[in-house]
Amino acid sequence: MKKISVNSIKASKNYKLLSMITAYDYLFAKLFDGIVDIILVGDSLNMSFGGQKDTLSANMDIMLYHTKVVCKGAKNSFIICDMPFGSYTTKKDALKNSIRVYQETSADAVKIEGGVEKIKIINHLVENSIAVMGHIGLMPQFVRSEGGYKIKGKNSKEREKLIKDAIALEKAGVFAIVVEGVKADVAGEVAKAVNIPIIGIGAGEKVDGQVLVWSDMLGFFEDFKPKFVREYLNGAKLIKESVKKYVADIEERKFPNEKESY
Ligand code: KIV
Repeated sequence: MKKISVNSIKASKNYKLLSMITAYDYLFAKLFDGIVDIILVGDSLNMSFGGQKDTLSANMDIMLYHTKVVCKGAKNSFIICDMPFGSYTTKKDALKNSIRVYQETSADAVKIEGGVEKIKIINHLVENSIAVMGHIGLMPQFVRSEGGYKIKGKNSKEREKLIKDAIALEKAGVFAIVVEGVKADVAGEVAKAVNIPIIGIGAGEKVDGQVLVWSDMLGFFEDFKPKFVREYLNGAKLIKESVKKYVADIEERKFPNEKESY
């Protein structure tokens, strides 16, 4: 599979549905490489990899480390580094931190949560040659200020805001937008309102592509299971069964055997 570029991502609108998955390390990035169009080093790693209750304590050093190791493993998928909470509150910080992403890793783009209120910051990044993916709807970095994870698009005010946000982000120069936790019909309307791809997560099928967190879709993360996740593998069960077998083999002196010894 040929590595997709910012231009081919934009051109995929109404032509090809985009696939995106998260990865946090070399091992899994290498397994996903070239199969999915886009790998997102999501700040969700703070929860599923780091065991924290939300994404807010992820910082630039953590995101840079994980982006670096993902880039080592994946050479054929387009890689996006999620900008962590607090790293893009001013134009100056956003640019300084995005430049770190480009200079310290080989990621192709950054992702930023926020709509109209983030336009000046995103514009500044785009003007300075940073490729930016937007993220609207349910934004995990707002979990404490909004008092929980809230599905969006439930009334006309929210619907209008989502459409306004998407149009403003497109104008500011983002190449695609993640729409998370939004009623399917409204997400479809958002997709129709812009000429760039809308990549959904918990946003139904009327959009231009899908993203899932790898440890959810492969069944490794057992703490909670969002309704929108389809589990393609029961990773936790397979791992536990294999490790139990390993322990039994040790206890019964079945491992190692002659072939596995020097
Ligand atoms: O952090 C993340 O994994 C994300 C996806 C859920 C889109 O932002």
